[in-house]
Amino acid sequence: MTMSSAWTDEAFFEAPERESLDGGTTSHGALWHGVSPRWGHSMHTMCSYHGMFPAKLAHYFIQQYTEPGDLVVDPFSGRGTVPLQARVEGRRCVSNDLNPLAYVLSRAKADPPSWSAINLAVDDLERSYKANRPAKVEVPKDIRMLFHANTLRQLAFIRAHMLRRSIAQWSPTELMVAGAMAGILHGSHRRDGSSQYLSISMPNTFSMSPTYVRNYIRDNKLTKPDQDVFERLRDKLARIYLDALDGPVGNTFNDDATKLLASKKIRPGTVDLLLTSPPYLRVVNYGTANWIRLWWVGVDEVGRQRGAGRQSLDAALDHRHTYDSYKEFFVRLLAGTRRVLKRNGVAALVIGDVANPGENPLPLAWKLWTEVGDGSGLQLMQLIEDDLAAQNKVSRIWGDTKGNATDRDCVLVLRRDDCEDFGENVAIDWDEPYKDGGPDAAHARLREIRETSS
Ligand SMILES: C[S@@+](CC[C@H](N)C(=O)[O-])C[C@H]1O[C@@H](n2cnc3c(N)ncnc32)[C@H](O)[C@@H]1O
Repeated sequence: MTMSSAWTDEAFFEAPERESLDGGTTSHGALWHGVSPRWGHSMHTMCSYHGMFPAKLAHYFIQQYTEPGDLVVDPFSGRGTVPLQARVEGRRCVSNDLNPLAYVLSRAKADPPSWSAINLAVDDLERSYKANRPAKVEVPKDIRMLFHANTLRQLAFIRAHMLRRSIAQWSPTELMVAGAMAGILHGSHRRDGSSQYLSISMPNTFSMSPTYVRNYIRDNKLTKPDQDVFERLRDKLARIYLDALDGPVGNTFNDDATKLLASKKIRPGTVDLLLTSPPYLRVVNYGTANWIRLWWVGVDEVGRQRGAGRQSLDAALDHRHTYDSYKEFFVRLLAGTRRVLKRNGVAALVIGDVANPGENPLPLAWKLWTEVGDGSGLQLMQLIEDDLAAQNKVSRIWGDTKGNATDRDCVLVLRRDDCEDFGENVAIDWDEPYKDGGPDAAHARLREIRETSS
């Protein structure tokens, strides 16, 4: 008996149209919006970061344009979305960010310690704290206002312990402790007053200005929770270690991106995919938005508006440009991209449209490409417009700034102009093999930790 009929042919041989599952879509179909917003390895949730893109977007480009063993590069890696996604998919990765917080997060994800190594490291740290509990804690008053005295004593101890060495010398366990701690440093409390975070109740993704926070604490009579840092840290680690760890160790730098792409650290013609989201034009100030976490990773004088540490970082990062100087920055970025790409390699640059309040949004990626694309040695393969669901856009809730971001990102997909093989569209596999340990195993592990710690 043959089973062929019109409806079975359709059911089995025609790929179903993927519907958006997160309310967003792109000019080329749902693409990465066809899976849940929660799609991805548990370690992606280590620490929220302003301007981060979703793991599923990284997965889409990695699957579309690379094979296991290929080299993926992200010169503006932020919270480390690309290094983690590349690693779990068996790709080699070089990541980089000039911001020390982003460098710590990216390196922690590029080379995470094993579950048992990280637990031993936390136990050692706690033992050392109990043996050397500091009598006096010296921290800036902008930091002091956020934490209970007991919490602050533990925090200050761990920070001083880590900062005996520069972040470039930190081991994988130190990086993981620093990254996971950055993730729980501040955030909002639950309705019942409990919290997974260490601070007074405040947003998790960004830090509001110190003056705003001080007034907010006073006006709303906020209380500082007496949190045990070691307990909260173990909880956090248990959550981010739910999924299996595997894949090649990535290499991470803390350099200026365009200098890195022109340097010997990446050999010319070696990169299969350059996947990145450069800072947009004057949208997010990465020093100011992260001042509390920057203090945590050792940048002093980050608090008050004129904090010298934050100012020097703000001056170094490429987020303060006028359109003309941004264009020069973009020319340098394209030159570096052309230099490192393999002949048949691909670059995907995710760039948000920007708008001043009341004005039409500037399609930044398109405008830049039309003005400086010629002569870059690259050709435009695709311009994907990515319309984000408004409620998912972090800058919507950025209370203390009139952020210039719009709801639309554009992805410029580029190849070298001497490219010979344009490849074919591949069907993206959204399966997540690293979850095969299964939620049962993961939850059993969490239960075990809770039981032994209670
Ligand atoms: C849009 S964010 C990248 C977010 C990232 N895709 C993620 O998922 O987290 C841009 C990053 O560029 C970094 N940055 C700004 N100027 C830089 C420079 N000159 N060199 C290297 N990194 C820079 C910022 O610190 C920020 O982390």
